[in-house]
Amino acid sequence: MTQDLRLTVAAELDRARARTTLLTDAVDDSDLVRQHSPLMSPLVWDLAHVGNQEELWLVRDVGGREPVRRDIDELYDAFKHPRRNRPALPLLNPAEARAYVGQVRDKALDVLDRVRLTDRPLVADGFAFGMIVQHEQQHDETMLATHQLRAGAPVLEAPAPPAARVPVSGEVLIPGGPFTMGTDTEPWALDNERPAHRVDVPAFFIDAAPVTNAEYAAFIADGGYDEPRWWSERGWAHRREAGLTAPMHWKRDGDGWAYTRFGRTGRVVPDEPVVHVCFFEAEAYATWAGRRLPTEAEWEKAARHDPATGRSRRFPWGDDPPGPEHANLGQRHLAPAPAGAYPRGASPLGVHQLIGDVWEWTSSGFHGYPGFRVFPYAEYSQVFFGGDYRVLRGGSFGTDAAACRGTFRNWDHPIRRQIFSGFRCARDAGTDVG
Ligand SMILES: [Fe+2]
Repeated sequence: MTQDLRLTVAAELDRARARTTLLTDAVDDSDLVRQHSPLMSPLVWDLAHVGNQEELWLVRDVGGREPVRRDIDELYDAFKHPRRNRPALPLLNPAEARAYVGQVRDKALDVLDRVRLTDRPLVADGFAFGMIVQHEQQHDETMLATHQLRAGAPVLEAPAPPAARVPVSGEVLIPGGPFTMGTDTEPWALDNERPAHRVDVPAFFIDAAPVTNAEYAAFIADGGYDEPRWWSERGWAHRREAGLTAPMHWKRDGDGWAYTRFGRTGRVVPDEPVVHVCFFEAEAYATWAGRRLPTEAEWEKAARHDPATGRSRRFPWGDDPPGPEHANLGQRHLAPAPAGAYPRGASPLGVHQLIGDVWEWTSSGFHGYPGFRVFPYAEYSQVFFGGDYRVLRGGSFGTDAAACRGTFRNWDHPIRRQIFSGFRCARDAGTDVG
Protein backbone atom coordinates (compact mmCIF):
# COMPACT_ATOMS: atom_id res chain seq x y z
CA MET A 1 0.00 0.00 0.00
CA THR A 2 1.44 3.38 -0.89
CA GLN A 3 1.98 6.09 1.69
CA ASP A 4 -0.59 8.32 -0.04
CA LEU A 5 -3.20 5.60 0.18
CA ARG A 6 -2.40 5.03 3.86
CA LEU A 7 -2.90 8.73 4.53
CA THR A 8 -6.18 8.78 2.60
CA VAL A 9 -7.44 5.74 4.50
CA ALA A 10 -6.43 7.20 7.87
CA ALA A 11 -8.15 10.50 7.05
CA GLU A 12 -11.32 8.70 5.94
CA LEU A 13 -11.40 6.55 9.08
CA ASP A 14 -10.93 9.70 11.12
CA ARG A 15 -13.70 11.57 9.32
CA ALA A 16 -16.15 8.70 9.86
CA ARG A 17 -15.26 8.51 13.55
CA ALA A 18 -15.71 12.26 13.99
CA ARG A 19 -19.27 11.92 12.72
CA THR A 20 -20.01 8.86 14.85
CA THR A 21 -18.74 10.77 17.88
CA LEU A 22 -20.83 13.81 17.04
CA LEU A 23 -24.00 11.74 16.65
CA THR A 24 -23.45 9.77 19.86
CA ASP A 25 -22.10 12.61 22.02
CA ALA A 26 -25.12 14.74 21.08
CA VAL A 27 -27.32 12.85 23.54
CA ASP A 28 -26.89 11.69 27.13
CA ASP A 29 -26.25 8.09 28.18
CA SER A 30 -29.89 7.29 28.95
CA ASP A 31 -30.75 8.38 25.43
CA LEU A 32 -27.94 6.29 23.93
CA VAL A 33 -29.26 3.06 25.42
CA ARG A 34 -32.93 3.80 24.70
CA GLN A 35 -34.72 2.40 21.70
CA HIS A 36 -36.38 5.33 19.97
CA SER A 37 -38.33 3.10 17.59
CA PRO A 38 -38.64 -0.69 17.20
CA LEU A 39 -37.33 -0.06 13.67
CA MET A 40 -33.99 1.12 14.96
CA SER A 41 -31.24 -0.07 17.27
CA PRO A 42 -30.29 1.87 20.40
CA LEU A 43 -27.49 4.24 19.30
CA VAL A 44 -25.08 2.46 21.64
CA TRP A 45 -25.61 -0.76 19.66
CA ASP A 46 -24.64 0.97 16.39
CA LEU A 47 -21.57 2.41 18.08
CA ALA A 48 -20.18 -0.90 19.36
CA HIS A 49 -21.27 -2.72 16.17
CA VAL A 50 -19.17 -0.30 14.10
CA GLY A 51 -16.20 -1.13 16.33
CA ASN A 52 -16.90 -4.86 16.17
CA GLN A 53 -16.95 -4.94 12.36
CA GLU A 54 -13.72 -2.96 12.33
CA GLU A 55 -12.21 -5.49 14.73
CA LEU A 56 -13.37 -8.50 12.70
CA TRP A 57 -12.11 -7.21 9.36
CA LEU A 58 -9.15 -4.95 10.04
CA VAL A 59 -7.70 -6.16 13.34
CA ARG A 60 -8.31 -9.91 13.07
CA ASP A 61 -8.56 -10.66 9.34
CA VAL A 62 -6.25 -8.12 7.69
CA GLY A 63 -3.97 -7.67 10.70
CA GLY A 64 -3.98 -11.26 11.95
CA ARG A 65 -4.07 -9.90 15.51
CA GLU A 66 -5.58 -11.35 18.65
CA PRO A 67 -9.20 -10.36 19.36
CA VAL A 68 -9.84 -7.22 21.39
CA ARG A 69 -13.13 -8.66 22.67
CA ARG A 70 -13.97 -12.12 21.42
CA ASP A 71 -16.92 -12.39 23.81
CA ILE A 72 -19.13 -9.76 22.17
CA ASP A 73 -19.12 -10.82 18.50
CA GLU A 74 -22.48 -12.49 18.78
CA LEU A 75 -24.19 -9.46 20.38
CA TYR A 76 -23.21 -7.22 17.51
CA ASP A 77 -23.97 -9.62 14.69
CA ALA A 78 -26.81 -7.91 12.82
CA PHE A 79 -28.02 -11.25 11.45
CA LYS A 80 -28.46 -12.82 14.88
CA HIS A 81 -30.64 -10.18 16.51
CA PRO A 82 -33.42 -8.19 14.84
CA ARG A 83 -33.40 -4.51 15.76
CA ARG A 84 -36.45 -4.74 17.99
CA ASN A 85 -34.65 -7.30 20.22
CA ARG A 86 -31.38 -5.44 20.59
CA PRO A 87 -32.24 -3.32 23.67
CA ALA A 88 -32.75 -6.51 25.73
CA LEU A 89 -29.22 -7.79 24.97
CA PRO A 90 -26.43 -7.45 27.54
CA LEU A 91 -24.83 -4.68 25.46
CA LEU A 92 -21.71 -2.73 26.34
CA ASN A 93 -22.76 0.41 28.20
CA PRO A 94 -21.88 3.79 26.68
CA ALA A 95 -18.55 4.13 28.49
CA GLU A 96 -17.55 0.56 27.60
CA ALA A 97 -18.64 1.01 23.98
CA ARG A 98 -16.61 4.21 23.63
CA ALA A 99 -13.54 2.59 25.17
CA TYR A 100 -13.96 -0.46 22.91
CA VAL A 101 -14.22 1.46 19.63
CA GLY A 102 -11.19 3.52 20.66
CA GLN A 103 -9.10 0.41 21.40
CA VAL A 104 -10.11 -1.19 18.12
CA ARG A 105 -9.29 1.98 16.20
CA ASP A 106 -5.79 2.17 17.72
CA LYS A 107 -5.11 -1.39 16.61
CA ALA A 108 -6.63 -0.84 13.16
CA LEU A 109 -4.37 2.18 12.62
CA ASP A 110 -1.40 0.11 13.68
CA VAL A 111 -2.41 -2.55 11.14
CA LEU A 112 -2.74 0.17 8.51
CA ASP A 113 0.84 1.28 9.21
CA ARG A 114 2.26 -2.19 8.84
CA VAL A 115 0.12 -4.02 6.30
CA ARG A 116 2.00 -5.11 3.20
CA LEU A 117 -0.43 -7.53 1.68
CA THR A 118 -0.82 -5.66 -1.58
CA ASP A 119 -1.31 -8.88 -3.52
CA ARG A 120 -4.24 -9.98 -1.38
CA PRO A 121 -7.51 -8.85 -2.99
CA LEU A 122 -9.00 -7.90 0.38
CA VAL A 123 -6.29 -5.30 0.92
CA ALA A 124 -5.54 -4.23 -2.68
CA ASP A 125 -6.24 -0.50 -3.09
CA GLY A 126 -7.11 -0.43 0.61
CA PHE A 127 -10.40 -2.21 -0.06
CA ALA A 128 -10.96 -3.70 3.43
CA PHE A 129 -10.31 -0.27 4.95
CA GLY A 130 -12.64 1.37 2.43
CA MET A 131 -15.30 -1.18 3.24
CA ILE A 132 -15.02 -0.36 6.94
CA VAL A 133 -15.07 3.40 6.25
CA GLN A 134 -18.26 2.93 4.23
CA HIS A 135 -19.76 0.68 6.89
CA GLU A 136 -19.22 3.28 9.60
CA GLN A 137 -20.56 6.06 7.38
CA GLN A 138 -23.63 3.96 6.57
CA HIS A 139 -24.27 3.45 10.27
CA ASP A 140 -23.84 7.18 10.75
CA GLU A 141 -26.71 7.68 8.33
CA THR A 142 -28.72 5.05 10.21
CA MET A 143 -27.95 6.86 13.46
CA LEU A 144 -29.10 10.12 11.87
CA ALA A 145 -32.38 8.37 11.00
CA THR A 146 -32.62 7.30 14.66
CA HIS A 147 -32.14 10.95 15.65
CA GLN A 148 -35.07 11.83 13.39
CA LEU A 149 -37.25 9.32 15.30
CA ARG A 150 -36.11 10.45 18.73
CA ALA A 151 -38.46 12.48 20.91
CA GLY A 152 -37.21 15.42 22.94
CA ALA A 153 -35.43 18.72 22.50
CA PRO A 154 -33.35 19.21 19.32
CA VAL A 155 -29.67 18.33 19.69
CA LEU A 156 -28.35 18.55 16.11
CA GLU A 157 -27.57 21.78 14.31
CA ALA A 158 -26.54 22.49 10.73
CA PRO A 159 -26.82 25.40 8.30
CA ALA A 160 -29.78 25.31 5.89
CA PRO A 161 -29.07 23.88 2.43
CA PRO A 162 -28.52 26.32 -0.44
CA ALA A 163 -31.52 27.90 -2.17
CA ALA A 164 -32.37 27.21 -5.80
CA ARG A 165 -29.88 28.90 -8.16
CA VAL A 166 -31.50 27.94 -11.47
CA PRO A 167 -35.08 27.00 -12.33
CA VAL A 168 -35.42 23.23 -12.72
CA SER A 169 -38.67 21.52 -13.64
CA GLY A 170 -40.19 19.10 -16.11
CA GLU A 171 -38.52 16.04 -17.52
CA VAL A 172 -35.47 15.12 -19.56
CA LEU A 173 -35.33 12.71 -22.50
CA ILE A 174 -32.64 10.04 -22.15
CA PRO A 175 -32.02 8.61 -25.64
CA GLY A 176 -32.26 4.85 -26.14
CA GLY A 177 -29.25 2.58 -26.50
CA PRO A 178 -26.70 0.67 -24.50
CA PHE A 179 -24.64 2.09 -21.64
CA THR A 180 -22.17 0.66 -19.13
CA MET A 181 -23.79 -0.12 -15.78
CA GLY A 182 -21.77 -1.00 -12.69
CA THR A 183 -17.99 -0.78 -12.38
CA ASP A 184 -14.71 -2.68 -12.56
CA THR A 185 -12.52 0.31 -11.76
CA GLU A 186 -13.96 2.03 -8.68
CA PRO A 187 -11.50 0.77 -6.01
CA TRP A 188 -13.87 0.79 -3.04
CA ALA A 189 -16.99 -0.30 -4.93
CA LEU A 190 -18.76 -3.13 -3.15
CA ASP A 191 -19.39 -6.52 -4.71
CA ASN A 192 -22.97 -5.69 -5.72
CA GLU A 193 -21.76 -2.77 -7.92
CA ARG A 194 -19.60 -5.15 -9.98
CA PRO A 195 -18.91 -6.10 -12.69
CA ALA A 196 -19.35 -3.40 -15.33
CA HIS A 197 -21.73 -4.66 -18.01
CA ARG A 198 -23.61 -3.27 -20.99
CA VAL A 199 -27.34 -2.70 -20.64
CA ASP A 200 -29.57 -1.62 -23.50
CA VAL A 201 -32.06 0.91 -22.15
CA PRO A 202 -34.85 2.11 -24.47
CA ALA A 203 -35.49 5.87 -24.62
CA PHE A 204 -37.30 7.26 -21.60
CA PHE A 205 -38.15 10.49 -19.87
CA ILE A 206 -37.07 11.15 -16.30
CA ASP A 207 -37.88 14.06 -13.98
CA ALA A 208 -35.21 16.74 -13.92
CA ALA A 209 -35.51 16.81 -10.10
CA PRO A 210 -36.99 14.71 -7.31
CA VAL A 211 -40.72 15.06 -6.60
CA THR A 212 -41.31 18.01 -4.25
CA ASN A 213 -43.42 18.39 -1.14
CA ALA A 214 -45.81 20.66 -3.07
CA GLU A 215 -46.28 18.04 -5.78
CA TYR A 216 -46.76 15.33 -3.22
CA ALA A 217 -49.24 17.46 -1.24
CA ALA A 218 -51.29 17.82 -4.46
CA PHE A 219 -51.52 14.02 -4.62
CA ILE A 220 -52.78 13.94 -1.03
CA ALA A 221 -55.24 16.80 -1.67
CA ASP A 222 -56.59 14.93 -4.68
CA GLY A 223 -57.49 11.99 -2.44
CA GLY A 224 -54.42 9.98 -3.36
CA TYR A 225 -54.49 8.03 -0.11
CA ASP A 226 -58.22 7.26 -0.51
CA GLU A 227 -58.16 5.84 -4.04
CA PRO A 228 -57.10 2.19 -4.35
CA ARG A 229 -56.75 2.60 -8.12
CA TRP A 230 -53.45 4.50 -7.71
CA TRP A 231 -51.96 1.80 -5.52
CA SER A 232 -50.67 -1.67 -6.26
CA GLU A 233 -52.60 -4.42 -4.50
CA ARG A 234 -49.85 -4.89 -1.93
CA GLY A 235 -49.37 -1.16 -1.60
CA TRP A 236 -53.06 -0.57 -0.88
CA ALA A 237 -53.16 -3.40 1.67
CA HIS A 238 -50.17 -1.83 3.40
CA ARG A 239 -51.64 1.68 3.22
CA ARG A 240 -54.77 0.44 5.00
CA GLU A 241 -53.03 -1.74 7.53
CA ALA A 242 -50.46 0.91 8.48
CA GLY A 243 -53.02 3.73 8.30
CA LEU A 244 -50.83 5.83 6.00
CA THR A 245 -52.27 9.27 5.16
CA ALA A 246 -49.15 11.35 4.43
CA PRO A 247 -45.35 11.03 4.53
CA MET A 248 -43.88 10.05 7.88
CA HIS A 249 -43.44 13.02 10.25
CA TRP A 250 -46.14 15.11 8.47
CA LYS A 251 -49.06 16.48 10.50
CA ARG A 252 -52.04 18.57 9.43
CA ASP A 253 -51.52 22.26 10.13
CA GLY A 254 -54.61 24.28 9.23
CA ASP A 255 -55.00 23.87 5.49
CA GLY A 256 -51.35 22.90 5.06
CA TRP A 257 -48.85 20.53 6.59
CA ALA A 258 -46.32 20.72 9.38
CA TYR A 259 -43.23 18.58 9.53
CA THR A 260 -40.95 17.70 12.40
CA ARG A 261 -37.27 17.34 11.56
CA PHE A 262 -34.72 16.48 14.23
CA GLY A 263 -37.01 17.82 16.91
CA ARG A 264 -37.96 21.10 15.24
CA THR A 265 -41.44 21.57 13.81
CA GLY A 266 -42.19 23.94 10.96
CA ARG A 267 -44.34 24.23 7.85
CA VAL A 268 -43.57 21.75 5.10
CA VAL A 269 -41.34 23.57 2.60
CA PRO A 270 -43.10 23.36 -0.80
CA ASP A 271 -40.06 23.22 -3.07
CA GLU A 272 -38.00 20.71 -1.06
CA PRO A 273 -37.93 17.10 -2.26
CA VAL A 274 -40.46 14.95 -0.40
CA VAL A 275 -38.74 12.60 2.05
CA HIS A 276 -39.80 9.72 4.33
CA VAL A 277 -42.10 8.03 1.84
CA CYS A 278 -42.12 4.26 1.33
CA PHE A 279 -41.86 2.54 -2.05
CA PHE A 280 -45.63 1.94 -2.14
CA GLU A 281 -46.35 5.66 -1.65
CA ALA A 282 -43.83 6.58 -4.35
CA GLU A 283 -45.39 4.06 -6.71
CA ALA A 284 -48.95 5.33 -6.00
CA TYR A 285 -47.90 8.94 -6.59
CA ALA A 286 -46.27 8.00 -9.90
CA THR A 287 -49.39 6.16 -11.08
CA TRP A 288 -51.58 9.11 -10.07
CA ALA A 289 -49.26 11.41 -12.04
CA GLY A 290 -49.60 9.19 -15.14
CA ARG A 291 -45.99 8.07 -14.76
CA ARG A 292 -43.96 5.31 -13.17
CA LEU A 293 -40.81 4.94 -11.11
CA PRO A 294 -37.56 4.55 -13.08
CA THR A 295 -35.90 1.16 -13.20
CA GLU A 296 -32.51 0.93 -11.58
CA ALA A 297 -30.83 0.78 -15.01
CA GLU A 298 -32.71 3.90 -16.13
CA TRP A 299 -31.65 5.75 -13.00
CA GLU A 300 -28.00 4.81 -13.48
CA LYS A 301 -28.06 5.69 -17.16
CA ALA A 302 -29.55 9.11 -16.34
CA ALA A 303 -26.83 9.59 -13.71
CA ARG A 304 -23.74 8.29 -15.53
CA HIS A 305 -24.15 8.11 -19.30
CA ASP A 306 -22.31 10.78 -21.22
CA PRO A 307 -23.94 10.95 -24.66
CA ALA A 308 -20.96 12.88 -26.13
CA THR A 309 -18.42 10.14 -25.42
CA GLY A 310 -20.63 7.12 -24.78
CA ARG A 311 -18.80 6.37 -21.55
CA SER A 312 -20.22 6.15 -18.04
CA ARG A 313 -19.03 8.76 -15.54
CA ARG A 314 -18.43 8.17 -11.84
CA PHE A 315 -20.94 10.91 -11.03
CA PRO A 316 -23.46 12.96 -13.06
CA TRP A 317 -21.04 15.92 -13.22
CA GLY A 318 -17.98 13.88 -14.18
CA ASP A 319 -15.30 11.87 -12.40
CA ASP A 320 -14.36 14.34 -9.66
CA PRO A 321 -15.33 13.32 -6.13
CA PRO A 322 -18.38 15.12 -4.74
CA GLY A 323 -17.68 18.61 -3.42
CA PRO A 324 -20.08 20.99 -1.66
CA GLU A 325 -20.78 22.58 -5.05
CA HIS A 326 -22.00 19.29 -6.55
CA ALA A 327 -24.37 17.69 -4.11
CA ASN A 328 -26.06 17.84 -0.73
CA LEU A 329 -24.21 15.02 1.01
CA GLY A 330 -22.45 14.27 4.26
CA GLN A 331 -24.87 15.73 6.83
CA ARG A 332 -23.50 19.16 5.94
CA HIS A 333 -27.15 20.24 5.91
CA LEU A 334 -29.80 18.32 7.76
CA ALA A 335 -32.45 18.70 5.06
CA PRO A 336 -32.79 18.09 1.33
CA ALA A 337 -32.21 21.09 -0.92
CA PRO A 338 -34.76 22.53 -3.37
CA ALA A 339 -34.57 21.71 -7.07
CA GLY A 340 -31.96 23.91 -8.74
CA ALA A 341 -29.70 24.24 -5.69
CA TYR A 342 -26.84 22.32 -7.32
CA PRO A 343 -26.53 23.31 -11.01
CA ARG A 344 -22.88 22.16 -11.04
CA GLY A 345 -23.98 18.68 -10.05
CA ALA A 346 -26.31 18.16 -13.02
CA SER A 347 -25.80 15.41 -15.60
CA PRO A 348 -24.79 16.26 -19.21
CA LEU A 349 -28.44 15.96 -20.27
CA GLY A 350 -29.64 18.22 -17.44
CA VAL A 351 -30.90 15.86 -14.75
CA HIS A 352 -30.37 17.51 -11.37
CA GLN A 353 -29.67 16.28 -7.86
CA LEU A 354 -29.40 12.60 -8.64
CA ILE A 355 -26.71 12.44 -5.97
CA GLY A 356 -27.55 13.63 -2.46
CA ASP A 357 -30.72 15.19 -1.00
CA VAL A 358 -32.93 12.07 -0.90
CA TRP A 359 -32.47 8.39 -1.69
CA GLU A 360 -34.57 7.65 -4.75
CA TRP A 361 -36.77 4.58 -4.95
CA THR A 362 -36.53 2.63 -8.19
CA SER A 363 -38.95 -0.02 -9.41
CA SER A 364 -36.23 -2.70 -9.41
CA GLY A 365 -35.68 -5.55 -7.00
CA PHE A 366 -32.18 -6.26 -5.69
CA HIS A 367 -30.24 -8.78 -7.78
CA GLY A 368 -26.63 -9.55 -8.62
CA TYR A 369 -25.33 -8.21 -11.92
CA PRO A 370 -24.41 -10.75 -14.63
CA GLY A 371 -21.07 -12.21 -13.57
CA PHE A 372 -21.54 -11.23 -9.90
CA ARG A 373 -18.96 -12.67 -7.51
CA VAL A 374 -19.21 -12.60 -3.74
CA PHE A 375 -16.55 -10.33 -2.24
CA PRO A 376 -15.53 -10.50 0.51
CA TYR A 377 -18.50 -12.25 2.15
CA ALA A 378 -21.97 -13.43 1.12
CA GLU A 379 -23.68 -11.54 3.94
CA TYR A 380 -22.76 -8.20 2.42
CA SER A 381 -25.03 -8.50 -0.63
CA GLN A 382 -25.74 -11.96 -1.89
CA VAL A 383 -28.02 -13.13 0.90
CA PHE A 384 -30.34 -10.20 0.08
CA PHE A 385 -30.61 -10.91 -3.65
CA GLY A 386 -34.13 -11.81 -4.72
CA GLY A 387 -35.60 -10.81 -1.34
CA ASP A 388 -38.50 -8.45 -0.83
CA TYR A 389 -36.49 -5.30 -1.46
CA ARG A 390 -36.46 -2.37 -3.84
CA VAL A 391 -33.27 -0.63 -4.88
CA LEU A 392 -32.72 2.99 -3.88
CA ARG A 393 -30.12 5.14 -5.60
CA GLY A 394 -28.19 8.36 -5.23
CA GLY A 395 -27.75 8.90 -1.49
CA SER A 396 -29.33 11.50 0.76
CA PHE A 397 -28.26 14.57 2.73
CA GLY A 398 -27.40 12.04 5.45
CA THR A 399 -25.09 9.94 3.23
CA ASP A 400 -21.35 10.54 3.18
CA ALA A 401 -19.49 10.94 -0.11
CA ALA A 402 -17.42 7.87 0.83
CA ALA A 403 -20.57 5.76 0.64
CA CYS A 404 -22.11 7.37 -2.43
CA ARG A 405 -21.30 7.20 -6.15
CA GLY A 406 -23.07 6.71 -9.46
CA THR A 407 -22.85 2.94 -9.09
CA PHE A 408 -23.75 2.68 -5.38
CA ARG A 409 -26.80 0.51 -4.64
CA ASN A 410 -28.94 0.65 -1.53
CA TRP A 411 -31.91 -1.64 -0.91
CA ASP A 412 -34.73 -1.79 1.56
CA HIS A 413 -38.16 -3.23 2.16
CA PRO A 414 -40.91 -1.49 0.17
CA ILE A 415 -42.68 -0.42 3.41
CA ARG A 416 -39.66 1.40 4.87
CA ARG A 417 -39.91 5.14 5.34
CA GLN A 418 -37.81 6.01 8.36
CA ILE A 419 -34.93 6.27 5.89
CA PHE A 420 -34.30 9.52 3.96
CA SER A 421 -36.21 8.26 0.95
CA GLY A 422 -37.86 10.19 -1.85
CA PHE A 423 -38.20 9.54 -5.57
CA ARG A 424 -38.53 10.96 -9.06
CA CYS A 425 -40.81 9.73 -11.85
CA ALA A 426 -40.14 8.43 -15.34
CA ARG A 427 -42.11 7.32 -18.39
CA ASP A 428 -41.51 5.47 -21.64
CA ALA A 429 -40.54 7.70 -24.55
CA GLY A 430 -42.07 5.40 -27.16
CA THR A 431 -40.38 4.21 -30.32
CA ASP A 432 -40.35 7.48 -32.24
CA VAL A 433 -37.66 9.15 -30.13
CA GLY A 434 -34.15 8.27 -29.11
FE1 LIG B 1 -23.61 -2.96 10.01
